[in-house]
Amino acid sequence: MKIDILTLFPNMFNNFLTESIIKRAINNKKVTVNIHNIRDYSKDIHKRVDDYPFGGGEGMVLMPQPIFDAVNDLKKEDSYVILMTPQGIKYNQKKAYELSLKQHLIIICGHYEGFDERIRTLADLELSIGDYILTGGELACQVVTDSIIRLIDGVINKESHLNDSFNNNLLDYPVYTKPVDYKGMKVPDILLSGHHENINKWRYEQSLKRTKERRPDLLGED
Ligand code: ADE
Repeated sequence: MKIDILTLFPNMFNNFLTESIIKRAINNKKVTVNIHNIRDYSKDIHKRVDDYPFGGGEGMVLMPQPIFDAVNDLKKEDSYVILMTPQGIKYNQKKAYELSLKQHLIIICGHYEGFDERIRTLADLELSIGDYILTGGELACQVVTDSIIRLIDGVINKESHLNDSFNNNLLDYPVYTKPVDYKGMKVPDILLSGHHENINKWRYEQSLKRTKERRPDLLGED
């Protein structure tokens, strides 16, 4: 998979791309991530990318020209264009699976108080990561990119993500490691029993219990 990200703040991606699983996925050529500075596409002599809103009002608005030129430059037949905005549809694990199957993603990070409405026409999908406002789309884009990359074939052990919370609309079951007794808090006996069938049953029941208690909405029960 290839991911092209358009941003006014390329440095915000430095640590994200050079640590842990994302770094390994890039090194192992499971994914290519290119960060593009929107300013580089500006045709303005002062490299301006934003201006005042017509009709007045607070803040600056991202102009269409640099974004249109960047997307048109990067777009191929199999490209899928995503615009990060709090007005988009709410992101979830199902969407992450869908997007992990795409060949090429172009992700536009909105910034400042807003972007020119015409930029929306470039997007196949507008995505929000939740009902709160970030200073820009960069962190939202990293959330989405991270969750997609870990699902690409060969990036992590398939078993690991088959057990993820939200698969089958259930939260994950509780897990424990050594020691068996920590400050009087004991690992449940069943996990030490070696009886795999019973352990799997217990885990499923725990997942269900946890989901009922914490996220009944996932079971359609809220
Ligand atoms: N940009 C600012 N806030 C955002 C959000 N919640 N989701 C996606 N993009 C954003």
